[in-house]
This record gives sequence, C-alpha cells and structure tokens, in this order.
Amino acid sequence: MKAVIFDLDGVIVFTDKFHYAAWKQMADEMGIYFDEQINNRLRGVSRMESLEIILERYEGEALSAERKAELAEQKNTAYRELLKTMTPADVTDEVRTVLKELRKRGYRLAIGSSSKNAKFILEKVELTDYFDAVSDGTNITNSKPDPEVFLKAAEFLEMDPAECLVVEDAYAGIDAAKSGGMKAAGIGDAFSYEKTDYPIQTFADLLEIMR
Ligand code: BG6
Ligand code: MG
Repeated sequence: MKAVIFDLDGVIVFTDKFHYAAWKQMADEMGIYFDEQINNRLRGVSRMESLEIILERYEGEALSAERKAELAEQKNTAYRELLKTMTPADVTDEVRTVLKELRKRGYRLAIGSSSKNAKFILEKVELTDYFDAVSDGTNITNSKPDPEVFLKAAEFLEMDPAECLVVEDAYAGIDAAKSGGMKAAGIGDAFSYEKTDYPIQTFADLLEIMR
C-alpha cells in the first residue's frame, strides 16, 4: 500500500455531538422524536439521507422537496455555528504525530468524507496541509456505502484503489472501501465489523500496519 485515505468525522475529529445538537434543534422544532441512538445511524450518511432517517419519525403531512432542503439548510447553519468553535486542540497529539510519521515514511494521505463541511473543519483544526488531497461531499453524487468518495480520493492521489488503505469508523464507510477494492482499517464502531481488514484500537496502530 502506498496511500492512506482517512474518513474525517469520527476518525480525525469528533463532530458527532455537533451533528446531534444541530439535528436535535431541528427535530424539536418539528415535534419529531430524536435521540443519540438515531444519531448513530447518521454516521457516514449524507446530509439529505440523514434528514430522511430523522423524518421516519415525522407524523405530519408529507413535506415538499423545497421544505426538506430548507430543513437541511437550517440544520447546516446551526451545525456550522458549532463548527466555528473548533480549534487545533480538537485534534489529538496522537493523530498529528501519526499523520506526520506516515508522510515521513513516504505515504500519500487523503481525506475521504461525505461531508460538505470537510474543508472548513480541516481549516478550523489546522490540518489542511497534512493532506495531499481532499475528496468530500462536494465532489460526489453517491455517498457511502457507494465507493465514489474513496475512488475520487485515489484518483486525486493518482493511486490505484488496491494501493490505498481506508481508515473508517462507520460500517457504511468500510462497505464503501471494500466495494472500491481497497483495504479497510476500522476504528471505533468499525473495530468489530466483520468486513474490517485491520481492526485498530487507536490511531498509533496504523504505524504497525503501514511500515
Ligand atoms: C459525514 C458524517 O462525515 O458527513 C455524517 O458522518 C454527515 O453524519 C455527513 O451527515 C454529511 O455532512 P455535512 O457536513 O455535509 O452535513
Ligand atoms: Mg465517520
């Protein structure tokens, strides 16, 4: 393997709590039941698909496409306000050290995230310069488990998929990596997923895999 493609949310930064707070605000206003368990189902899933999952609990009249777009926009505005509070301290020293070491060993590094806010987050935590490429929600039409976001990342890096390791916390992300012909390291939730090639407890374990 010659390159590593990292998911962002739940791997490099922990934005779950912000997604939750922003969706919760929208759900409360609409009188829709929403809790952390439902929030877990939104991991790796696009913004509009996340909204559809939340609307499974909606009991009012059918919503138009315009109204749905408005709700997603309302959530995103609240979410971005919360993202503005992020600082470099929101990334652990371990993550920074491992990224630097992987670069030193000659690996090409990319982000492969469903989020349209990926570049904004990277700027806030001052990680932009650590990556050779960013493939995110702004350059794809199909989100995970479709492999598009990772295939684009490989293309940006000028690598074959088989030369890439994907690092993911979501089942949908591991599925995406595998159907794209890549190896997958699973952290967090994905640690115990049967499709994960390399279960990792902590970021530093990557230094064992990528010797
Ligand atoms: C993923 C998150 O990284 O990005 C999902 O895991 C989120 O929970 C998705 O829905 C889309 O994010 P954004 O920032 O474009 O709304
Ligand atoms: Mg994730």
